[in-house]
Amino acid sequence: MKIYVPRDAAALGVGADQTAEGLVAEARRRGIAVELIRNGSRGLLWLEPLVEVDVGGTRMAYGPVQSEDVAGLFDADFTSGKPHALSHGVTAEIPYLKRQERLTFARVGITDPRSLEDYKEHGGYRGLAAALAQKPADIIADVTASGLRGRGGAAFPAGIKWKTVLGAPGTQKYIVCNADEGDSGTFSDRMLMEGDPFVLIEGMTIAGLATGATQGYIYLRWEYPQAKLALEAAIAAAAAARYLGQNIQGSGKAFELEVRMGAGAYICGEETSLLESLEGKRGQVRFKPPLPALQGLWAKPTVINNVITFASVPIILDRGAKFYQHFGMGRSRGTLPMQLAGNIKQGGLVEIAFGMTMRELLYDFGGGSFSGRPLRAVQVGGPLGAYHPESQFDTPLDYEAFAAIKGMLGHGGIVAFDDSVDMAAQARYAMEFCAIESCGKCTPCRIGSTRGVEVIDRLIAGENAAKQEAILRDLCETLTYGSLCALGGLTPYPVISALNHFPQDFVKPVRASSAAG
Ligand SMILES: Cc1cc2nc3c(=O)[nH]c(=O)nc-3n(C[C@H](O)[C@H](O)[C@H](O)COP(=O)(O)O)c2cc1C
Ligand code: SF4
Repeated sequence: MKIYVPRDAAALGVGADQTAEGLVAEARRRGIAVELIRNGSRGLLWLEPLVEVDVGGTRMAYGPVQSEDVAGLFDADFTSGKPHALSHGVTAEIPYLKRQERLTFARVGITDPRSLEDYKEHGGYRGLAAALAQKPADIIADVTASGLRGRGGAAFPAGIKWKTVLGAPGTQKYIVCNADEGDSGTFSDRMLMEGDPFVLIEGMTIAGLATGATQGYIYLRWEYPQAKLALEAAIAAAAAARYLGQNIQGSGKAFELEVRMGAGAYICGEETSLLESLEGKRGQVRFKPPLPALQGLWAKPTVINNVITFASVPIILDRGAKFYQHFGMGRSRGTLPMQLAGNIKQGGLVEIAFGMTMRELLYDFGGGSFSGRPLRAVQVGGPLGAYHPESQFDTPLDYEAFAAIKGMLGHGGIVAFDDSVDMAAQARYAMEFCAIESCGKCTPCRIGSTRGVEVIDRLIAGENAAKQEAILRDLCETLTYGSLCALGGLTPYPVISALNHFPQDFVKPVRASSAAG
């Protein structure tokens, strides 16, 4: 009897360990032999802890299961898949999961993240096998043809970056994985590293083979201790089975991998700051050029990609560029794991091909707001993403479509707000975030963000509002065009979108006084 209880941090946060302990103790008390598997999360976060039982090869879902529900589940004979108030039937048939197109997350929640055997039984390391049979340039040609663009935010084509590193002179090159995941409302990197760490390791190893890099680092957000444990266990298992090391699968090719914990600053997710931090220095943005692809870690040619970018590579090598390229729309190819957070009924991870509209995602998957009130705004793409009003909910999830409405998909995070949100406060928060997180290297961001907060305060207070608004818009233009990196450069997105789409929220004192009058 196999029972699955996630070890994912989101599940642990709502009592998954206690549920697992309760299940094992209750089974023992009743003389039922069970094998407990600590899987990753399926991404249906409102149902965590989601317990699954294997009934004749079909997994049945129950959730959210707290330790006090365990005895009742046994009474209802849930180990035979019998109904119970917490039952959701066959897991794979739950509409939230069934409608997804899981390529990168194909194994997450299904396999035991610490078992290399399980990984291989579910198609793992087939991409590496294909890569080992190819020349570096051919691997890169596949990645390029797949249309894969970086999933960390900037959506830069992965193949072009890899080609630059392959062509860069130098005997020592590096592969660096950006696992800092600092964006608000995002958790796909974490879920993947905790739920299927081998796929990231495999993707980075393929990147090493493709570019001639023999050393890799995963720069991991320090708030992710569960991911660290999962990655380190998987790296040890991969090394023991010669999927890492000096002679990968007898090929004579080398690739070593280490996890390094981040310094805990949002700017350390910016690639050049990350490299500074990885070198043991304060995380501060570097001037570009030189590009990290030519002079990156310790001034050596370096591929730096997001977790999801690397994790998408094995399936491309295994199933072919055409297979992956077939998903998506326009220049946005493949799938994007969207993350639904904030005031949303069914928060979680939804991996789907580009092209679905935001409305479908928010209502068909998310089920509308958690509060039951109308959704008024969503912020897409992290703290530097724009706030979108309801009139833009029909925008397809596509990099170019979002750019056209002065927004960005970024790392795929969506934070929802209902009609009680104060958008002027959100705009102020965005500017304050920039002031707090600024690395201080360039003037527009370092000083402009602090002045920006003051201007927004005066605007909200109604002190010569028209003038303050003009100053704010002018300041945002300076930030856009004068900042060294995208922290200062994109902060105007949330600020100006709030101002443009929700101007009424910026005139509260006027409203209050006219109401009083
Ligand atoms: C302020 C700031 C924070 C960033 N944070 C992250 C992050 O947490 N994770 C990430 O993958 N990329 C982040 N990026 C983007 C990286 O600079 C870089 O574009 C990315 O790691 C490249 O990988 P990709 O091409 O696979 O997306 C950030 C960028 C900026 C400007
Ligand atoms: S924009 Fe801000 S975070 Fe970026 S380099 Fe300038 S001061 Fe640093």
